[in-house]
Amino acid sequence: MKLAILGSGFISRFYADSLVAQRRKDTIVSVYSRTEVNAKKFADDYGVPHYSTSIKECVSHPDVEAVIIGLSNDMHLIAVLESASAGKHVLCTKPLGRNAAEALQMLQAVDKAGVTGGYLEDLCYTPKFLKSLTAVKNGSIGEVIWAKSRETHPGPHSDWFWDKEKSGGGAMIDLGCHCVEISRNFIGKNIRPVEVMCWADTRVHPIDAEDNAIGLVKYENGAIGQFEVSWTFRGGMDLRDEVMGTEGTIWANNFLRTGFEMFTTGKGSNYVAEKAETNAGWLFPVGDEVHELGYSHMFTDMFDSIDKGIQPAETFYDGYIVNAILDAAYLSAKTRQWEPVQLADWRGVAEQKQVKEMSSYNEEYYLIKEEVLPTGEKKYIIKHKKTGSIERR
Ligand SMILES: NC(=O)c1ccc[n+]([C@@H]2O[C@H](COP(=O)([O-])OP(=O)(O)OC[C@H]3O[C@@H](n4cnc5c(N)ncnc54)[C@H](O)[C@@H]3O)[C@@H](O)[C@H]2O)c1
Repeated sequence: MKLAILGSGFISRFYADSLVAQRRKDTIVSVYSRTEVNAKKFADDYGVPHYSTSIKECVSHPDVEAVIIGLSNDMHLIAVLESASAGKHVLCTKPLGRNAAEALQMLQAVDKAGVTGGYLEDLCYTPKFLKSLTAVKNGSIGEVIWAKSRETHPGPHSDWFWDKEKSGGGAMIDLGCHCVEISRNFIGKNIRPVEVMCWADTRVHPIDAEDNAIGLVKYENGAIGQFEVSWTFRGGMDLRDEVMGTEGTIWANNFLRTGFEMFTTGKGSNYVAEKAETNAGWLFPVGDEVHELGYSHMFTDMFDSIDKGIQPAETFYDGYIVNAILDAAYLSAKTRQWEPVQLADWRGVAEQKQVKEMSSYNEEYYLIKEEVLPTGEKKYIIKHKKTGSIERR
């Protein structure tokens, strides 16, 4: 695949590291940045033959087949519209829009142009996530009751993130978009998210947007997705998922304290890992950050899907659903009520009833709980199927 990258900042460099580092057959052929000096520097660093300070010129370059958007959130819509109208496949970083209305416009633009709209949700491609999702899909943990995802760090690295108009919000739009999509994958993308309850507050930073939030997303089958986000967490970047099912549990820690610990007095390189707050003392480096954050698997899926003419695992439609859930979360944080998820375009299961299958102890009784006591004896808590009386055996 011959690629254009829009943006030369933090994420564009992560993407380029992932694309250039591993002898991929895909190449970056054009880069856009607002200033010539940044565009040229990026082009020099990654061996990109063409650079431009015009989005239109960059995406219209005749060699470009697909565009990767690594721009600030307020620029996603215009960048997607330019790419789609140039007839190029377009892969956009998260969050897709600042809100669902923007995301829907982007979805409609790629659908109309007949190009792929890939949603670059890297945390749904980490090696641990992919293995967990396979286990869930194979039924290893039964029916998912609750899927929780947490992303917290001390706050982002560029001015525009802190400006609500440009970013669309605070920690919730920035980090919650990952968490929502992670939970949604585990619960099942075909299951409609129905309503959201959310607490959000600005506790530490002098900004209009929230720097902490927790939310519950209720799905039509009864499952709950939970997100926990913060821009005030101290000690690095905490990325953890927990999935609870009727037959099992998954706990995945993607980044901080994953088994690699190092002590240094602070000599040598300053960089330890994304959002690490210190380079001295006991540190928690990450072996291959680009890979462990999901970028390698993500681009492989995107380009393979484009080659085969199929949809990647994460599409603009997913980005739109995530934005719609977050819109409801922002509203709920204001109204302090459960707020419905408004979906103008729903492509999943029309109606998913909650199914409760009770396990039986025998013909007469349901089994509520079986317990092995310290004495080794077994105790059964049972419920009479007709009278409802709760007893033990
Ligand atoms: N894990 C992830 O997937 C991940 C991680 C970090 C950032 N992101 C996303 O990547 C995007 C960029 O974030 P970043 O961390 O690279 O930020 P950054 O500030 O490092 O880079 C932003 C880029 O956008 C450009 N830009 C900003 N305002 C612009 C404007 N008005 N016109 C034209 N160009 C403009 C900047 O020049 C820069 O090239 C955001 O949407 C962010 O949410 C994703």
